[in-house]
Amino acid sequence: MKELNELLENNRGWSERIKASDPGFFQALAQQQNPRYLWIGCSDSRVPATQLVGLSPGEMFVHRNVANVVVHTDFNCLSVLEFAVDLLKVSHIIVCGHDGCNGVQAAMQNRKLGLADNWLRFVQDVMQRHDALLSEIRDEAQRLNKLCELNVIEQALNVGRTTIVQNAWDRGQELAVHGWIYGIGDGLLRDLDICIANQTELSIAYKNTVKASG
Ligand code: CO
Repeated sequence: MKELNELLENNRGWSERIKASDPGFFQALAQQQNPRYLWIGCSDSRVPATQLVGLSPGEMFVHRNVANVVVHTDFNCLSVLEFAVDLLKVSHIIVCGHDGCNGVQAAMQNRKLGLADNWLRFVQDVMQRHDALLSEIRDEAQRLNKLCELNVIEQALNVGRTTIVQNAWDRGQELAVHGWIYGIGDGLLRDLDICIANQTELSIAYKNTVKASG
């Protein structure tokens, strides 16, 4: 239990430091949250969403799962998305993967993990869709990182295809979907140049993805 006591102790210090610099901080947050961003990222402990973009509590809504996958039947992810878009009215959705992702690697190597195999099947679908492009890359680490990128792009497209985002665009709500990749080795984010803010951009992004893999 000593380990957990340390965490609770850390928490008290953290709270005190924030209150010292901004006495009303927690009271204001208790009234409401007003995040502009939704982050959909990997559960990996090395990718601490809010921390790595320098945001404070209340500024970013977060959903994380193994290999940052967005599936149209995943009510967990869809509920987060709906809450963020319909109620919190976020302006940006960031799908963020990272290089060397263990989930993506397990999918690529077809490793048997158990229950997660069914989840990572979605990443294998991405891999098969881009087989021509991936098979040209001989170095395994580079191939893995390319698949991590392609997975981000495909999952960002999936976000754009959800009824939640489609309905938001239909009613004229400003909402853009982005794809980023995080470098575990240098702590830096890279924009994958995918920014989808309406139906037309979604179609173009899809065509570009298909073309790049053709
Ligand atoms: Co990962």
